[in-house]
This record gives sequence, C-alpha cells and structure tokens, in this order.
Amino acid sequence: MSLTLAKVHHHRHSNNQSELAILSEPKSGEARLSSPRGLPLLGNILQMDKALHMTFSKWAKIYGPVVQAHLATTRIAIISDHVILRKIFAQTEYSGRPDFHSDMTSTPAEIAEMKKLYGKSAYGLSPTEGKIWEELRRFTLRQLRDFGFGKQSMEELIMVEVAELIEHLKRFEVGRKPVTDLKEMSILAVANSLRVIVAGKRYRHDDPELLNFTRTAEKALQDLLENAGLLFFVPWLGKSFPRLTGYAKLKERGLEFLDSFQKPVKEHLETYSPENIRDFIDAYIKEMKTVTDPDSPFYGKRGEKNLEAIFGDFYIGGTDTTTSMIVWMVFILSKFSEYQEQFQNEIKSVTGNNRACQLSDKSSMPFTEALTAETFRFATVSPFGLQHRTTSDQELNGFLIRKDTLIFPNYYFMHHDPAIWGDPETFRPSRFLDKERKTFVKNPALIAFGTGRRVCIGESFARDSIFLFVTNLFQRFSIAIDKNGPDNGFATETGFALVPKPFHILLKDRLE
Ligand code: HEM
Repeated sequence: MSLTLAKVHHHRHSNNQSELAILSEPKSGEARLSSPRGLPLLGNILQMDKALHMTFSKWAKIYGPVVQAHLATTRIAIISDHVILRKIFAQTEYSGRPDFHSDMTSTPAEIAEMKKLYGKSAYGLSPTEGKIWEELRRFTLRQLRDFGFGKQSMEELIMVEVAELIEHLKRFEVGRKPVTDLKEMSILAVANSLRVIVAGKRYRHDDPELLNFTRTAEKALQDLLENAGLLFFVPWLGKSFPRLTGYAKLKERGLEFLDSFQKPVKEHLETYSPENIRDFIDAYIKEMKTVTDPDSPFYGKRGEKNLEAIFGDFYIGGTDTTTSMIVWMVFILSKFSEYQEQFQNEIKSVTGNNRACQLSDKSSMPFTEALTAETFRFATVSPFGLQHRTTSDQELNGFLIRKDTLIFPNYYFMHHDPAIWGDPETFRPSRFLDKERKTFVKNPALIAFGTGRRVCIGESFARDSIFLFVTNLFQRFSIAIDKNGPDNGFATETGFALVPKPFHILLKDRLE
C-alpha cells in the first residue's frame, strides 16, 4: 500500500491539442511527499496517540504541511497550513463529508431512497452534502440570522442563563465553598439557551428534565467517542459482530440520544399553529408544510428526520465547544491574576460596573477581544474540526489527492506553529493587539470555526455566549484557583472538545 501522495504528471496529448494534467501514481524513484510508513489493513493506526492532534502535529513537523496516511484502509490527508486550507475548503470538491454512520434508525427502503436522491444516507446538516446540505444549511442560517422567535432577542435569552449561573455561583461564594464542577454548570447554561432557540422551552438549571437531557446526551457522546474509533473506519466489523465490537451498546446510546430530540419535535407537530411560530422547530415545520416537491429535504417523514438531526447537530456542534471555551477562559484568568485585573478594568471602563456587560460594548473592548482570540488559539477546543471528503480526484501543489480522501484540518498545529507565533506555548493576549495595545489585530492563521463552504453555522451564537458569560462572571466575581484542589497544569481531557482537566475555583463577590 502506497503511503505517498502521487505526483501529478503533465503529459502532452498525442494530438498535441492541449496540455492535460493527468493524475497518476508516481513511478518508483520519483519525487515523493514523505508520509509515515504504515501496515497493511491497519494503516497508521498503531502510530496514533489517543490525542490525535498530538500525532498530527508531530507528523506536520516531520513531513510538512500536507501529509497523507491511512486510518485502517481509509486514506486521509492532514493539512497543517492555513493558506492551503483556506484555498481548498473554499472549493466544493473538498467540501464533501465522509460517511459518519450516524443514521441508526432508517429502514432499508429509506436508506435506498436517500441514496437515490442525495447519493448517501444521512440526515441533518453536518454529515450531508450536495443538494440536501445546501438547502438545510441555507434555511438554518437564515433562521439564525433573522432570529425572532418568541419575544426575546438572542442576547436577552443568553443573559437569562448568565443571570442564573451567577445566582448559582453566588451560593458557593456565600458558603466560602470551592466550585468543583464549573464544566457541568456551564453545559447546563449553554445547552439550555440552545434548547430555547430550537425548542422554545426554558428550564431552571436544576430541573430534572434538563439534567436528564444533558447527562444522557453527554454520556452518549462520551461513549460514542470512546467506542466509535475503529467502527467509524471499519463499519462492517460492527454490523457483523455487534456485541463483540460494542456496536450494540453504541446503537443503544445513539437511540437514547436521538430520543431526546424526537420528543420535542413530536410535541411541536401536535401543537403547531402557523399564526404562532414559537421557535426554530416551528419555523421548520412551517417550511415542511409549504414544500410540495417530494424530493425536498423538508418533505414528509424525511423532513421530520432532518429536523431531528439538525437539533442533534446543534447539540453536538454547539454545547461542548462553547462550554469548553468558557471553562478555558475562567481557568486561564483564574491562573493569571494580572490578565484578570486588566480584563476587569476594561469591563469597568465601559460599564462603570453599574450595569451588565452587553454585546454592544464589545467593539470598545480590544483587550477582551485579544484575550478571547488568544484563548481560541492556545486552547484550540476543536483541534481538527470535522473531517471533509474529496468528491473527486484533486491536484494539490502538484500532488494527487484521490477522491474519497478524508481531509483533517490540523488546527492545533496551525495555532501552535512556532514559525507563525514565535512563542506558541506562552499565553500572551498582546499578540492580537497593535503596538499601542489599543486595537485588536486579527491573524489569518487562527481558524477557530473552520473556513470556507462548511464554516461553522453557530459562530455568532458561540461568540455572543462566550462574551456575555465571561465578561459578566468576572464583572461580578474575582476568581482564583483553589490551591487545595487538583492541579493538572494545562493538561486536557480528550473528549469531543478539548477542555482542561478538573480544577477548583474560589470566588469573591466584587460588587457587594
Ligand atoms: C466555540 C464554539 C464552536 C466552535 C469552536 C465550533 C467549531 C466548528 C468547526 C471547526 C466546524 C467544522 C467546519 C468544517 O466542516 O470545516 C464546525 C461546524 C459546525 N458547527 Fe460549530 N463550533 C462552535 C459552536 C457551534 C454552535 C453554537 C453551533 C450550533 C448552533 C454549531 C454548529 C455547527 C454545525 C451544524 C456545523 C456543521 C456545518 C456544516 O457541515 O455545514 N457550532 N464548528
């Protein structure tokens, strides 16, 4: 099995009409891109650390910005250069998705129908491509942009969650107790606001239904991550040996997860009224009732399944990632008191500390913007995003990337490349400020939400949430790491999003 990227050869056509680029495998001895040597069938799996981004970064250092390897028999390409990545992810041919095998409920007839209509059997936004993806993505982006369900703005509904989180944290402050699980508290707050947007209903953070929903979802995600690895790349193994490989358990978890999205969709279908569009689900149902084209992604039962899957996409794509960023910022600011002080001074300079921090303050807060960008870079909560798939053979810098190659963007390396950042292991917000330290300066090598045609659809919700949670927490409290709690340095937990290992914090009310 060749582990090299095949060089593209330019051949003159025999009739001499035009010069055509013909993609072919390199002849022996010809210039090859270095790649890690693997084994038949297993590919490079045995060389991979559980923290895949570490392996990819090591390879980027040894083999360069485009590395080809194999996960079992699946061909992958790891892109570690932001210029190359921005160029290719702008192209349709690099914007397919691999088969995530996320569909566990479809009947053989439904699978056949989906394959006939759209080329693959998958529902929702993140695993689909082509016409179905384009239509669902366009609709979802429009709904998020023109957000006007119910009477609250996006900012108002996030602020309800911020207020409840602060109220909850205040109890720890009064009792002088360390906060030991900021992550779960933040997950509840973030999941709640996403749920309000999609399904209208808000819960108190201690409501058993919300706790049950988020814990089931988190557990299912964790199990999927721990067990899905090999099954993802060698799916027939799971289907042939469901118990032995853990596929049976995985399926059970997947169905539980799905159930939590099916219930609210059913309830909405029963209570829907076109005069009263309450939330995203209602807006979507309205679209379902309008379409007449039987091939439409919104049509009939297929429309319903796509809706459930988009709800799941929001949860999977939005909850752990946004929460991880909030947790990282609290963690870093609790460790570095000088940055915390600078941050709090900036918050005071715009709000006078006699009102809450608002989204409209953001543009007058360059240090806050730099602090957030530096946390996005340093933490890289989504170290290799979501994989893309090439939909046809492609030439990249003179080398062949075959159809059906999985493309892994190596964000972690891009964000820690010494050639770009100089001292990447130092947390230093000023790298995103101008000389006078008055203006925020972007860096194109920071790609937190992906780039190109499939760029994250939740970026503004995530940015708004992170800003409102973190500014208002630090306006209210001084926060320090509890020295009696665990100390894991900057080590991370390997999960869906990178998050610091557990730490405890102590709070002090600043506004009393
Ligand atoms: C800090 C928070 C977040 C980060 C770092 C993040 C990052 C990303 C990245 C890197 C991608 C992959 C883009 C690609 O395929 O090239 C992505 C896609 C996606 N994200 Fe986010 N995301 C965040 C928050 C959210 C939120 C809040 C939502 C939901 C409201 C969301 C929904 C999605 C969806 C549905 C996709 C798939 C888009 C598609 O396939 O067309 N994300 N995100």
